[in-house]
Amino acid sequence: MLGHRDVERLEVRLLLEAIYNRYGYDFRKYERDSMERRLSSAAADLGVDNLGELQHLLLHQPEVFERVLDSLTVRVTAMFRDPTFYRALRQLVIPALRTYPQIKIWHAGCASGEEVYATTILLTESGLYERARIYATDVSQVAVAQAREGIYDESTFSSIAANYLASGGEQPLDRYFAHVGGGVAVLPALKKNVHFFQHDLVSDYSPGEMQLIFCRNVLIYFGPELRTRAFSLFAEGLRRGGFLCLGASEALPSDELSHYQDISSSVRIYRRSAA
Ligand SMILES: C[S@@+](CC[C@H](N)C(=O)[O-])C[C@H]1O[C@@H](n2cnc3c(N)ncnc32)[C@H](O)[C@@H]1O
Repeated sequence: MLGHRDVERLEVRLLLEAIYNRYGYDFRKYERDSMERRLSSAAADLGVDNLGELQHLLLHQPEVFERVLDSLTVRVTAMFRDPTFYRALRQLVIPALRTYPQIKIWHAGCASGEEVYATTILLTESGLYERARIYATDVSQVAVAQAREGIYDESTFSSIAANYLASGGEQPLDRYFAHVGGGVAVLPALKKNVHFFQHDLVSDYSPGEMQLIFCRNVLIYFGPELRTRAFSLFAEGLRRGGFLCLGASEALPSDELSHYQDISSSVRIYRRSAA
């Protein structure tokens, strides 16, 4: 006989299965407790009593699913988020990138693009942008569209500027943006070498031959099997000597460490071994 808790878990499992079958988004192997919290809070927000009712609503009303998808994918981000990470990038990674005639970079889980534009600013300031080709991907179509558009709320500009300064930036930040009707728009020059597209770390192949891969604040939402899959995508996608940036909230598992050199243990930057 199943207890109350077992039934709740079963409801979550059935709901995730339903979402996968109806919409193709596969959250079945995400970290289960956090998925459960998000689904319960979505149910509360929508005023339904339980996950069974939520399932009915999501199956029959795609527009409701789109809203819930927002919270399931957790698209929180910011430009120059975690400035110490960008300091480390400037000091420890950029000098090595200078040795490559062409630089391929993958931002996996780029959300609305702020992280990508922080990179393009950094590459511009280092004189490396012209030789860079940047692939910016996310599972969420909405996020990819926002990232491609590159327009952000004017009210965030002062915190972007503060993060930029703290990350070691020395230019007037205004040179990278146009102020347009309550928003700040990234200038086209910062977009021209960036390709935005939808990519699912759960099921898609790795874009290959990268010198630098970013995947920050994404894997924390994955269960163990998905994390393992993501790490093998990164190993496949990264050239020898290339860098993997996970950011402070994740670490490379011990069985992967033998393939990498630890470049910064505080902000979790690793370099793929040459041999
Ligand atoms: C918290 S945001 C992190 C954004 C950015 N990397 C940062 O650190 O600021 C997590 C992003 O991962 C994306 N994501 C979640 N599951 C994914 C998957 N299976 N494949 C690709 N992206 C995924 C979400 O849509 C969301 O935009």
